Amino acid sequence: MSALLDVRGLHKGFGGVKAVAGCSFCVRERSITALIGPNGAGKTTVFNLITGLIPVERGEIAFGGQQLHALRSHEIFDLGIARTFQMLRIFPKLTALENLMIAQRGRAEGIFDALLRPSLVREEERARRERAHECLRMVGLEEKAHAKAGGLSYGQQKLLDIARCVASGARLILLDEPVAGVNPTVRERIKALLRSLRERGTTILVIEHDMGFVMDLCDEIVVLDHGEEIASGPPERVRNDRRVIAAYLGE
Ligand SMILES: Nc1ncnc2c1ncn2[C@@H]1O[C@H](COP(=O)(O)OP(=O)(O)O)[C@@H](O)[C@H]1O
Ligand SMILES: [Mg+2]
Repeated sequence: MSALLDVRGLHKGFGGVKAVAGCSFCVRERSITALIGPNGAGKTTVFNLITGLIPVERGEIAFGGQQLHALRSHEIFDLGIARTFQMLRIFPKLTALENLMIAQRGRAEGIFDALLRPSLVREEERARRERAHECLRMVGLEEKAHAKAGGLSYGQQKLLDIARCVASGARLILLDEPVAGVNPTVRERIKALLRSLRERGTTILVIEHDMGFVMDLCDEIVVLDHGEEIASGPPERVRNDRRVIAAYLGE
């Protein structure tokens, strides 16, 4: 299987801090790849660079063969990369369903369409609603469709946040600590959800500190330390890598 995402020699500094220092790795299409490393290793910064939230200082990011460095974050989203943040990014006052209706990519109806082609607009609205329901079913929140997102439990909000990425129709989903702070039941649900997304052809890159979750779920692991990739490969290999053990034990 080929690489969907190819990161080469990435650099990013903040003042005197080298957050990302020559980081290179690949994410195979239809894989679940983990990006792990100690706190401050540069993991979230790598996500911010991939999604165009902050500009790349040096290096290359290719998605499906296309270079991303000159693109803005909404253009990168339109190419099919969606993400979650360490902090939840859902609209608490909207219902779960509404959150997923607005998360979908594609043309927003213009004023002329609304005036001249109302049936087309209604059709589009219907399709969005249907897709939103489908995504809610996928994450097991169908019965919460009309509940305000802000009233859901923390675990349900984490699921809704992932559903937001699914609703966008992204080919690549970046998840920043999806199981941090959730109970074991939700963690297992998220694991099953990510497996079924992979089954459907979605590629997933996930930052996570929960090693049980990572070892059990991921096809490949990329380890960052001080902004640099120090190891990568299947879980069994990475687990026994001397540099990885040293980075974690703070040698
Ligand atoms: N916007 C920013 N401004 C200044 N420093 C930052 C910024 N974002 C991240 N950093 C610094 O970059 C380093 C890597 O941070 P981060 O990517 O958040 O690490 P991780 O997600 O692996 O814990 C840290 O030293 C952090 O303080
Ligand atoms: Mg982080």
